[in-house]
Amino acid sequence: MKTRITELFGIQHPIIQGGMHYVGFAELVAAVSNAGGLGIITALTQKTPSDLAKEIARCHEMTDKPFGVNLTFLPTVSTPDYPGYIDAIIDGGVNIVETAGRNPQAYLPKLQNAGVKIMHKCTSVRHAVKAEKIGCDAVSVDGFECGGHPGEDDIPNMILLPRAEEELTIPFVASGGMADARSLVASLSLGADGISMGTRFIATKEAPVHENVKKAIVAASELDTRLIMRPLRNTERVMNNPAVERLLEKEAALGKNIKFEDIIEEVAGMYPRIMRKGEMDAGAWSCGMVAGLIHDIPTCKELIDHMMSEAEKIIRNRLLGMLS
Ligand SMILES: Cc1cc2nc3c(=O)[nH]c(=O)nc-3n(C[C@H](O)[C@H](O)[C@H](O)COP(=O)(O)O)c2cc1C
Repeated sequence: MKTRITELFGIQHPIIQGGMHYVGFAELVAAVSNAGGLGIITALTQKTPSDLAKEIARCHEMTDKPFGVNLTFLPTVSTPDYPGYIDAIIDGGVNIVETAGRNPQAYLPKLQNAGVKIMHKCTSVRHAVKAEKIGCDAVSVDGFECGGHPGEDDIPNMILLPRAEEELTIPFVASGGMADARSLVASLSLGADGISMGTRFIATKEAPVHENVKKAIVAASELDTRLIMRPLRNTERVMNNPAVERLLEKEAALGKNIKFEDIIEEVAGMYPRIMRKGEMDAGAWSCGMVAGLIHDIPTCKELIDHMMSEAEKIIRNRLLGMLS
């Protein structure tokens, strides 16, 4: 399949694996890229720029296909060494970066002068328009369904994607709630040039996370996620568990007076415990509503090949069939 996204990134299929904390390691990234999609390493999971450089080198050893790096600009207490991570990306020969969180404008000139293509992740049309205006090459539009941070506007993809198409001229991918060929064809119909998936790629053989995480996603339904940190305007969609219920009780009790310190026990430093050790009730971890559509743990190649062949069937048989 050829779209503006496959052309921009030099990939075979318009399927991207979004950056994911403690999931986006070389094993998964290379598996997605080797299957013809675009894998993305999560920079901030690597403690230092030199660790990121090593992870990029490891990924180059596992694939000769294009892959990217996610740089997330989140409101954190101590600012990560972004210039150092950017040097690691450029020196490592990576020429695709997915930025997320705050406006990436300050970092664009250096990356783009080095030939790096930028896809900025946005949860609203106004931020997508801004991304286009500051010179991003593409955007990833994340609907309210998405795992992770859906923003504060709560607009689902059925509205957000066609709105993005109305306003943007640069290519965009649909993200949030994407699981299979139906998601892909629907997104293309709504104006996107491809899709990006997070939660779906965690439940794959190559995802280097504990089996408990994969099993939890397969077992979950579309009713099993919760929104946390709304009162802090840092909303995150996570898998429900006892720690999340405790956190939500604190939010209800403390109301507007809640501070990050009040919920630190449920959110801080959870990812290694959950993703590595499989302690599923340790705290909150990002997960999309799309868990309800995930029923198996295939390899990335099985998943992507199946999606592409089913997408062709939907287009050629189901949709064209309706016209004849
Ligand atoms: C476990 C997990 C961790 C994530 N970590 C990040 C991150 O560090 N940076 C980022 O930009 N997005 C992150 N995301 C969001 C994904 O890149 C993607 O936008 C989102 O998962 C799409 O929604 P879906 O899960 O419904 O596919 C994360 C998502 C999950 C599920």
